[in-house]
Amino acid sequence: MTRAIVVTEKGAGGRLLEIDDDEFFEGTGGDEAVDLEVLYSSVNYKDGMALTGRPGVVRSWPLIPGIDIVGRVTGSRSPRFAEGDLVVLNGDGIGEDRHGGLADRARVRPDALVHLPSAFEAAPARAAAIGTAGFTSMIAVLALEDAGVRPEDGEILVTGAAGGVGSIAISLLARRGYRVVASTGRAEELGGYLEGLGAARVIDRGPLGEEGRPLQSQAWAGAIDSVGSRTLANVLAQTNYGGTVVACGLAQGPDLPGTVLPFILRSVTLTGANSVEAPLPLRERAWTDLARELDPEALDSLTTTVSLEGALDVAPRILDGAVRGRTVVDLSL
Ligand SMILES: NC(=O)c1ccc[n+]([C@@H]2O[C@H](COP(=O)([O-])OP(=O)(O)OC[C@H]3O[C@@H](n4cnc5c(N)ncnc54)[C@H](OP(=O)(O)O)[C@@H]3O)[C@@H](O)[C@H]2O)c1
Repeated sequence: MTRAIVVTEKGAGGRLLEIDDDEFFEGTGGDEAVDLEVLYSSVNYKDGMALTGRPGVVRSWPLIPGIDIVGRVTGSRSPRFAEGDLVVLNGDGIGEDRHGGLADRARVRPDALVHLPSAFEAAPARAAAIGTAGFTSMIAVLALEDAGVRPEDGEILVTGAAGGVGSIAISLLARRGYRVVASTGRAEELGGYLEGLGAARVIDRGPLGEEGRPLQSQAWAGAIDSVGSRTLANVLAQTNYGGTVVACGLAQGPDLPGTVLPFILRSVTLTGANSVEAPLPLRERAWTDLARELDPEALDSLTTTVSLEGALDVAPRILDGAVRGRTVVDLSL
């Protein structure tokens, strides 16, 4: 028997249950299924939606939520993995239409499974602290740089700064030598925390969230936006000639109420970051860079750890924007 949080039916929230894992995982994971002891998972915005029964994330029932897994291989039909290997998995449909990480055990397909970089072997919880949020931040940083943005070009704006994606993006960018400006709705409460992560300046998110002019004063060489909607439209309108904006979230909304003027008059590039379907080579590149670059102390400073049951309490708070940084679920608690 295995402890697992299960969303049993459409519209239902997650419940902590004892399941017969052999029966539950029957037929999952494909021909090269890999069995895992889950060491850590985490609570992302999507997990908050799944655990509270909100529509849009879970697409198959019953389902174990949890879009991140850090685990140890206990059995493998894939030649890429052997018993005892430490691995990390982000997205690839787990916690959405495949069983995810909020359980003591998991059975996954190997397509997106990455060997945990050796830097994390002594503290695999840090890989869960990074999780989908940090993995997405790294993909976003790589997208900025692949578009040609460099530290000497000017300031980089990070929106949704105190959230999981934003917090880790600040730390990664600062480490790479960028001057980072953090946009947050919690400047008074969390300004010091964001500066501690490496933000050179903290600004209030209010004006960015309002309707704005289609072109505004140029301020940013690039931006990582986890907010979308009017915020993204204003960020585009404030981006320098030739700059790049990476859209990776929709905390304010999925709409984009702007004009084409930033693109046709300032050659601004809008690009995306999708962690769920990232191909294996990009996953391996991102995890190698994360292992090399993410400051362990900065990571620890933005991490809170909870038990499996505790994940259920965090879920509504992450939807209210009341969670700071990252929440790790420790399956040994
Ligand atoms: N593309 C991908 O593959 C991918 C991967 C992971 C996450 N995401 C998406 O990225 C977004 C952030 O994820 P996360 O895990 O960082 O979530 P999170 O920890 O909840 O952070 C989101 C942050 O956005 C800000 N925010 C919330 N509501 C807002 C509003 N109405 N207007 C403006 N700002 C608002 C808040 O930051 P402040 O308190 O600092 O203002 C909040 O902390 C979510 O939309 C998530 O679905 C996408």
